[in-house]
Amino acid sequence: MINIEVKIPEKEKSYPISIDKYDVGELRERIRPILRGKKFLVVISEKVDKLYGKSLGFSAEEKFVLKDGEREKNFKNYQRILARALRHQLSRKDAIIAIGGGVVGDLAGFAASTYMRGIDFIQVPTTLLACVDSSVGGKVAVNSKFGKNLVGSFYQPKAVLINTKFLDTLDEKQFKSGLGEVVKYAFIEKSCQSFEEFNFANFLSENAQNILKKDRYTLQKLIEICIKLKISVVEKDEQEEGLRKILNFGHTYGHALETITGYKKFTHGEAVVKGIEVAFELAQSKGMVEENYKYFAKDLLEKFGFGKIKTYPPKKILAAMKSDKKAVLDKVAFILPSKFFEVEEKELVIDEIKLEF
Ligand code: GLY
Repeated sequence: MINIEVKIPEKEKSYPISIDKYDVGELRERIRPILRGKKFLVVISEKVDKLYGKSLGFSAEEKFVLKDGEREKNFKNYQRILARALRHQLSRKDAIIAIGGGVVGDLAGFAASTYMRGIDFIQVPTTLLACVDSSVGGKVAVNSKFGKNLVGSFYQPKAVLINTKFLDTLDEKQFKSGLGEVVKYAFIEKSCQSFEEFNFANFLSENAQNILKKDRYTLQKLIEICIKLKISVVEKDEQEEGLRKILNFGHTYGHALETITGYKKFTHGEAVVKGIEVAFELAQSKGMVEENYKYFAKDLLEKFGFGKIKTYPPKKILAAMKSDKKAVLDKVAFILPSKFFEVEEKELVIDEIKLEF
């Protein structure tokens, strides 16, 4: 088992993350010492409940089953979770446990952050994307009709328990989506922290086949590295006042692409990969990186089978960027590669962004 501690400066916000592979039936026992007798409500993804509900052994009363899909991260379900917690008479000392991907974690976490002004929250991420990104760092939210994640908070969990057993049944599309976020870390590695004699891009390149085969130890190592990189950022800047923005590498274009295609055409990871390609093009056009680094990035992405994504009309993309919550007046912040495995924030005037490559 791999154990990692997230050390948020305000001490009571620090929490442990464990990475392991075990029979899912053991989860209850592993959560017991964290709960220390607290009452709880489990919010679980429908897919995970269908596959593992019996082995997990939570009763119908103890769990709220959430349908899958980004659309479910809505106010109606948020209210339903709160109503269940109230009916179940959870007090301020009790807990909400999320078992599922990013949608479940974000929504259950937001419910936990607001229920009785905040109760304990435990994350059990079951997708690769949630393991390497959304379950770590405390961003929780609900979508509104005006856009994704527009209502939310920073709320750190009490613990994150990763069991790579859940990844065995993750479909190819969702697994690849997680890999999109994984590859992102390779290009921001040195802006997060420098590992001595280690290079994440090389690790990915050398282990691509084992990763795609979901080899147990390679996956655990991969998740460990991504989490360590992410927490090295979150520990320094929990609330995205500066450094944390680098985690949005590939996301400025990626979010715009998701918006104009109604979150239906691409997985989040695919959109981020396209965003990474665009970031390299923009950086090269601004003389920030050489062409050979751009081709290095393309090669690495190809190793994980990310094919070509069609180009969308720049006008539509730019309009979506303008309405993003991160856009300020006529400018939008891009995270662009600057040196090998380093990135920099650059504010670009939207009307001057050239997206024809
Ligand atoms: N997914 C980006 C962040 O957690 O800041």
